[in-house]
Amino acid sequence: MDAPRRASDLLEGVPVPMLAVDGRARTIAANRAAVALFGGADLLNRPFVTVLRHPAVVAAVDGVLDPDRHPEPASADGVVRLHAVILADGRDIAADITVARLPLALGRGATIAVLDRSEAEEAEQMRRDFVANVSHELKTPLTAMIGFIETLRGPARDDARARDRFLDIMEREAARMNRLVSDLLSLSRVQAEERRRPGGQVDLPLLLRGVLATMDPAATAAGVVVETQGIMGSQIVPGDPDQLVQVFQNLIENALKYGGSGGYLGVSLRRIDHEPLLRGPAWAVEIRDRGEGIEGMHLPRLTERFYRVDAHRSRAQGGTGLGLAIVKHIVNRHRGRLRIDSTRGQGSAFTVILPESASRG
Ligand SMILES: Nc1ncnc2c1ncn2[C@@H]1O[C@H](COP(=O)(O)OP(=O)(O)OP(=O)(O)O)[C@@H](O)[C@H]1O
Ligand SMILES: [Mg+2]
Repeated sequence: MDAPRRASDLLEGVPVPMLAVDGRARTIAANRAAVALFGGADLLNRPFVTVLRHPAVVAAVDGVLDPDRHPEPASADGVVRLHAVILADGRDIAADITVARLPLALGRGATIAVLDRSEAEEAEQMRRDFVANVSHELKTPLTAMIGFIETLRGPARDDARARDRFLDIMEREAARMNRLVSDLLSLSRVQAEERRRPGGQVDLPLLLRGVLATMDPAATAAGVVVETQGIMGSQIVPGDPDQLVQVFQNLIENALKYGGSGGYLGVSLRRIDHEPLLRGPAWAVEIRDRGEGIEGMHLPRLTERFYRVDAHRSRAQGGTGLGLAIVKHIVNRHRGRLRIDSTRGQGSAFTVILPESASRG
């Protein structure tokens, strides 16, 4: 068997994109993963530099092929490892690259393995952003509280009225931190069990009536007229009752907080014979307000953790920006969908679509 054939047999057994070149740095083999990574182009019988045009990688290949003429980078054991951002199939990929000598039996040459680290690096970046966000959200109320403690110890020591006022503010800030921590715990719990479908049963109209009853004082305080449709009677669907309560409480609270100016809250439940997205019958719960609505550009990001249209205003209302993230994860866990429709100046509708039975998807 010739060397390219044997090299290609060797590479095919490796799950990582991998190429082999001969002694003149021409490609002689590429496994399926490499063909996929580089966009299916014809990778063989070409100068390696035309496949992967990155100076450090090309230098590593030269170094492995001919360490005497190219002592840099050093490849004592015949292997060079490096991290590089390379262009493959028209996109930038952060990759761990390993260049090694081809087994002697296959002749002079080198193998180049390209491990795509982009997704892992993105996830890592998201984790860092998340930690930074959490720290910032906790730090703001903490700083305020420390400031008030100092004032109470010093200038306001004997001022009973100031003391009461400051204690009120401190109580509010502490409550906000408490809420943030509860929301974080709740989010991490939901995420942890997102793959596991809820095993329970929920009477959806009954659950909605319960949530509306608890939210009634808030609706009255917001001067909102509540209109309901289809929530009488009883309808059993698979679901986690506590989590679904959380979903509808969040959405109704938002409708009152951000859409209350329209003086209207609509809660409706209806059956969909065939929901294409869920490939089957479903139940749709719509929470609608006639408030100021949300600009289209914000809609795709609304369910991101800590995303708020107006951070100042949300914070002033005690919001943490985690509500819709929790809603989305709970709905995902139920194999349902969350739809957001909103028109600036006219109001918003948040629709939760839940599968009628547990048998699908
Ligand atoms: N019905 C609505 N009308 C207008 N804007 C809304 C509506 N619902 C949500 N928003 C916007 O989406 C943002 C994110 O909502 P989300 O529920 O995730 O966070 P929050 O309400 O600020 O905080 P939390 O729910 O944690 O108390 C809100 O800050 C608000 O700007
Ligand atoms: Mg909210």
